[in-house]
Amino acid sequence: MMFAFNPEIISHRRSVRTYDGRPLDDEDLTEIGSILGRIASLSTPFGNAPLIRIIDKKSRDIGQAKRLGTYGVIKGESGFLVSVSPVHDHDIVDTGFLLEHLVLSLAGMGIGTCWLGGTFKRQDFLGDLPMDDSLVIPAVIPFGRPKDRTRVMDGVMRKMAGSDSRKEWSELFFRDEFSSVLTRESAGIWEEVLEMVRLGPSASNKQPWRVLLSDDDRIAHLYIQQTPRYAGNSFGYNMQMLDAGIALCHVTSMLNHLSVSYQMTDSDPGLDIPEGAVYVKSIEIEKR
Ligand SMILES: Cc1cc2nc3c(=O)[nH]c(=O)nc-3n(C[C@H](O)[C@H](O)[C@H](O)COP(=O)(O)O)c2cc1C
Repeated sequence: MMFAFNPEIISHRRSVRTYDGRPLDDEDLTEIGSILGRIASLSTPFGNAPLIRIIDKKSRDIGQAKRLGTYGVIKGESGFLVSVSPVHDHDIVDTGFLLEHLVLSLAGMGIGTCWLGGTFKRQDFLGDLPMDDSLVIPAVIPFGRPKDRTRVMDGVMRKMAGSDSRKEWSELFFRDEFSSVLTRESAGIWEEVLEMVRLGPSASNKQPWRVLLSDDDRIAHLYIQQTPRYAGNSFGYNMQMLDAGIALCHVTSMLNHLSVSYQMTDSDPGLDIPEGAVYVKSIEIEKR
C-alpha cells in the first residue's frame, strides 16, 4: 500500500476549528471508511498498529447522545477520528504517521480537520474503547466541511500557537553534522521533500523536526528537538513523537509522489547532537 500526496495538498492544509455542523454525505463516509482500510495495511515506521476509530455525527445522533468535549475549541464537526496507542514513543510515532495519512487524505477530499492532542476531554472519548493503564488516546481529530465564517476562537488558537509562520530551513535542516546548515539550493531531490516537512502541522506549532542529510544525499536522519518542559507532555506520553510521525508521513508520501524508492531504517549515525534532541528514524533512498 502506498500513499502519494500532491504537495499542493500538504501546503494548503490548515487546521479547521469551525465546521458547518452537518453530517457528511454517505459517499464521503464510505470513502473515509475505505481510506481507513487502506491505512490499516500501511507499514508504519516502527511496525506498530495503533487503533483508529471513526465516530460520525449521524451514528452519534442516534446512539450516543453524549457530547464530546473540546473546551469550545471545535464547533460544528461532523465526527472525530480517535486513536488508541501504547504510551511508548515508537507507538506514538506510528500513530502520528497513520493519522497524518488520514488528515491529508481528507484534505484531498475538501474535508477539514484539526489535530487535537491537548484540548479535548479524554474521558468523553473512552466509550467502549479497550483501554488500560498502558494505553492512551494520544490524539483525536475532528473533521467536517469548513464553515465560511470562523469564530474568534479560531483566531485565538492560531495566535497562541503562532500557526501562520514556520521556522526557516537553517533552523531545521543540516548537512552531515549539526554545525552545518543545509541550503535549499544544495538539497537536490530533498528540496521539495523537506519543504513539505517544514510546512507540516505540529503540536503548538513547535516544529521540533530536525533533519540531517548525509553528504551523498542518500540518507536523511530524523531527530526531534524536544521542547523543554512542554505542557503537551503532561498527558503521560511524548506528544512531540506525533510530530515525528507527521514528518515521516510527509517524507515518505512525497518520495512516493516523486517515484523515489526508499526504506525507513534505524541508522543512528551517533553524532554529537544538540541538547534535548533525540534520534527517531532514517530514510534511505535508492541511488539513481
Ligand atoms: C500533535 C498535535 C497536537 C495538536 N493539539 C492541538 C490541540 O490540542 N488544540 C488545538 O487547537 N490545536 C492543536 N494542534 C494544532 C496546531 O496548533 C497546528 O497544527 C499548528 O499551530 C499549525 O497550524 P496549521 O495546522 O493551521 O498549519 C495540534 C497539532 C498537532 C500536530
